[in-house]
Amino acid sequence: MSVRIEPIKPLVGGKVTVDKAHLTDPDVVEAIRSALEERGVLVFPEINLSDEEQLALTDALGERVNFTRRVPGSDISATDVYKITLDKEINKEPDYVLGTFFWHVDGVTIDQPLPKATLLSARTLSDEGGATEFANLYAAYDKLSDAEKWQYEGMRVIHTVEASVRHVFGIPPQERIDRWRAMADAMDQPLVWTHADGRKSLLLGTHADGIVGMPNPHGRALLWRLQQWAAQPDFVYTHHWKVGDFVIWDNQGLMHRVVPYTDTGRVMHRTTLAGTERPGKLAPEGSYEKLMEVG
Ligand SMILES: [Fe+2]
Repeated sequence: MSVRIEPIKPLVGGKVTVDKAHLTDPDVVEAIRSALEERGVLVFPEINLSDEEQLALTDALGERVNFTRRVPGSDISATDVYKITLDKEINKEPDYVLGTFFWHVDGVTIDQPLPKATLLSARTLSDEGGATEFANLYAAYDKLSDAEKWQYEGMRVIHTVEASVRHVFGIPPQERIDRWRAMADAMDQPLVWTHADGRKSLLLGTHADGIVGMPNPHGRALLWRLQQWAAQPDFVYTHHWKVGDFVIWDNQGLMHRVVPYTDTGRVMHRTTLAGTERPGKLAPEGSYEKLMEVG
């Protein structure tokens, strides 16, 4: 076997040592797939993948998806490699990138199977900031008390794009709200997600806007407390990037965020692996407006 995978922290993270020439060998792909389940996030230090090599691994792991094609300003004729950067010449919707400073799960406000995994290569780094943090939402569920597990089972959470960019703008102009709504959906997702294999995780992030049937301050306070719980150090791995590093994470079981940076030169190349499980459904019409009512 031409791959070695070592744990980084007890509850999260794995470091992968592999000969790049064997990256898409079936036994290596299988080892990566099962380590992803176990460790949540896998780091391939300074492996320096080209876009073609990254796409080849993405395709070997499953079906690729390009869910950001709906993002205004993205080039729909572009390849399935999405460039994350604050450089407006490359990415015409930097609001979307600024939203990544806050805990989130990729693709959670789009009506589709939740993307299985995200794959990211570091091409150019910022002088300051730019580390990526990953919080294990399986561990966050497992370590709850039995009483809390019982209490949260069955709760439904409305996730919106408005919530995910609320920290980017104070009161956003209507024109921007209209654009965001065109690229995303209000989704009704379970707070505790029971995956097809029986494992359970919390489904959290800044896009979690309120809990169905609960007064808004109470619902949001609970979501905020759970987000803080899930982001405690034991559940989190922080990746300090070097150029050429490549990271894959289980987007269905981890939330992530980037340490803020201002440098428009930072460029990361992302591909996405499609999911097969759809934990939630479109929120009924008017759900967002209902959440905005106080009390
Ligand atoms: Fe992300």
